[in-house]
Amino acid sequence: MIKQMRQLIFAASAGLMLLTSTETFAHAAHCKDTELGELMKNMKQELKSYVQSFKQSDQAAMQQHLNELIKDSEAAKELIPMKYEKQSAGSVDIQRYQNGMDELLDLFQRLNQAAGDKAAIKPLLAEIKQHSKDSHEDFRKDCD
Ligand code: HEM
Repeated sequence: MIKQMRQLIFAASAGLMLLTSTETFAHAAHCKDTELGELMKNMKQELKSYVQSFKQSDQAAMQQHLNELIKDSEAAKELIPMKYEKQSAGSVDIQRYQNGMDELLDLFQRLNQAAGDKAAIKPLLAEIKQHSKDSHEDFRKDCD
């Protein structure tokens, strides 16, 4: 249901952008907004909220944001990065991307297990940040 709503919102906003001038595009002309990019933006917001809740020691809110992060990562794993959109589904690059998403999911599961243990959570957050940075260097099309 949420996925469908997201797809609808994405389709509607993509349509709206086509009707307006190219200057309103979020990316350069040879780049584009994608469903995966929308999911990623949501993950960025959820991660921010998770860190905020962590600082406030609000475990219920942390759990809620972590659940969203896990759900979004699982959905992201099913999508094809723009960089590989011309490749067939089982290509080595797409498999590497899916492994990268599995690594992220594994880090989120470890956060889940850490519950409210601050000493365990901090290094995991650093690992998530580093893994995202490395993954973006590897899998994001160089078009922004
Ligand atoms: C918590 C972790 C992560 C966050 C917060 C995050 C955030 C983002 C953001 C904000 C964007 C730009 C979206 C846009 O402007 O359209 C993006 C793009 C992207 N990210 Fe992530 N990311 C994370 C982890 C990862 C991982 C682990 C991978 C790969 C294994 C990945 C692959 C990509 C790709 C391929 C794009 C470009 C979108 C496309 O090709 O359609 N990200 N990400």
